[in-house]
Amino acid sequence: MTLRVFVPYETTALSLGADDVATLICREAEARGIELELVRNGSRGLFWLEPLVEVETDAGRYAFGPVEAGDVASLFEAGFARGAVDHPLALGPTEEIPWLKRQQRVTFARIGVTDPVSIEDYRAHGGFAGLEKAVTCTPQQLVDMVKASGLRGRGGAAFPTGIKWQTVLDAKGAKKYIVCNADEGDSGTFADRLVMESDPYMLIEGMVIAGLAVGATQGYIYLREEYPLADELLTLAIERARAAGFLGDDILGSGQRFELEVRLGAGAYICGEETSLLESLEGKRGLVRAKPPLPAIEGLFGMPTVVNNVLSLAAVPSILSEGPEHYASFGIDRSKGTLPFQLAGNLTRGGLVELAFGHSLRELIEDFGGGTATGRPVRAVQVGGPLGAYLSPAQFDTLLDYEAFSAIGAVLGHGGVVVFDDSVDMAEQARFSMEFCVEESCGKCTPCRIGAVRGVEVIDRIMQGESRDANLALLDDLCDTMMQGSLCAMGGMTPFPVKSAMTLFPEDFQRQRGDQS
Ligand SMILES: Cc1cc2nc3c(=O)[nH]c(=O)nc-3n(C[C@H](O)[C@H](O)[C@H](O)COP(=O)(O)O)c2cc1C
Ligand code: SF4
Repeated sequence: MTLRVFVPYETTALSLGADDVATLICREAEARGIELELVRNGSRGLFWLEPLVEVETDAGRYAFGPVEAGDVASLFEAGFARGAVDHPLALGPTEEIPWLKRQQRVTFARIGVTDPVSIEDYRAHGGFAGLEKAVTCTPQQLVDMVKASGLRGRGGAAFPTGIKWQTVLDAKGAKKYIVCNADEGDSGTFADRLVMESDPYMLIEGMVIAGLAVGATQGYIYLREEYPLADELLTLAIERARAAGFLGDDILGSGQRFELEVRLGAGAYICGEETSLLESLEGKRGLVRAKPPLPAIEGLFGMPTVVNNVLSLAAVPSILSEGPEHYASFGIDRSKGTLPFQLAGNLTRGGLVELAFGHSLRELIEDFGGGTATGRPVRAVQVGGPLGAYLSPAQFDTLLDYEAFSAIGAVLGHGGVVVFDDSVDMAEQARFSMEFCVEESCGKCTPCRIGAVRGVEVIDRIMQGESRDANLALLDDLCDTMMQGSLCAMGGMTPFPVKSAMTLFPEDFQRQRGDQS
């Protein structure tokens, strides 16, 4: 009988030695005369257990992790092919691992289960069922289904996806485009990368459906250059999808067209902002455009354009195949569906947690994250990337819901959760936010370009104890000016982390530095 073993081919697992583990598994099987089928699957997103090796048994897949090259011989010795064996790295049936079992994986249901670039595997796990349905629908029916699902943009602004699609469907243009925002610049985030590396056909399928819905015939994935593996796997998946008739001139024999290409970004955070992304895609410097006109009316090369985040587009295939009511049955109030949270920073168990809206931040940090890796108390959490507010433990019972976060002056954004223990200096963090804005500002408007530079200087004076009260008042005033006067959310939201640090951790702005008290 052939032994079927799964070793992830995904950036996190590879950086932790997955390739060496795979090589040794092949070598060990050969030496023992065991017939082996090695599958390079995606990652399940349990990063603290990577490389997570799985074996297929009659009772389902069993997991072992984190496996190092030196563990391979002992796994064979223990007879890991049987699954339920006595080995320190044995984790039992993969689907029963509580961290995974407690999640509500909708978009990420296939992640880590399949071989990412196998169309057969994708189809065997429900893939392309959404597109098969889409080719039988009218554009308006497709837009209506996305509206009914309640899906809101997962890139940060949470704008209703169906309404954006309706605007592009209704707009007149010689050509229309679907642009996927895969710049994923937020600190601590990796969900887009996981989709592209571990289930790329899902994104391709979502983009083709978007094209059919609004009448666009060309799509671009604007991918951050720092994701070479996503580039490799997406490019291969696009070629295979085209060869199999899911892309090209005659999608599934429907006579409808859609083409798709990957374009690499050049490492600027601001190129994740949709209008500077479009400038960059047109071959220009990533400078923010004034709105209006909205990209939906005049976007890429002046044509009506849907710009959507990877996760928004990746949610679409299951909305079609399972029905919009199914997707909308997850979540609360106006936050429908699920959000893939990305646990990062000082945590024991970092990784991907997909949950319906409505759970609490505490559940994420304590139950899933397992507290800090250093064992010290959690002091602050930044949710929603570098422009997101800091939260203190007193706010951890806030529900994960767009409106509940907005009510406390915070954002859920793209679902990034970065945890800090009690050794963090929040004045330093506030300074870092301003410094980040200095570095990443596109420079088009004064409140952001100049304001962030002044922000760093004022925080330096506060930290040095120079006219502290006057400088704190000045910093607060500067934050208000940036919030109200900036052209885009880069300058407009940099004050969120700064103000929240000042409000929630005032002692760090009063502390005399240099003495260790
Ligand atoms: C400074 C800045 C950086 C951004 N970076 C990203 C990004 O990396 N990825 C993303 O999808 N959206 C990013 N956005 C949000 C986009 O401008 C836009 O709202 C999003 O791509 C729309 O897609 P959605 O409706 O599917 O969320 C950023 C916004 C700003 C202001
Ligand atoms: S707020 Fe900053 S990034 Fe945005 S347009 Fe103004 S200068 Fe550019």
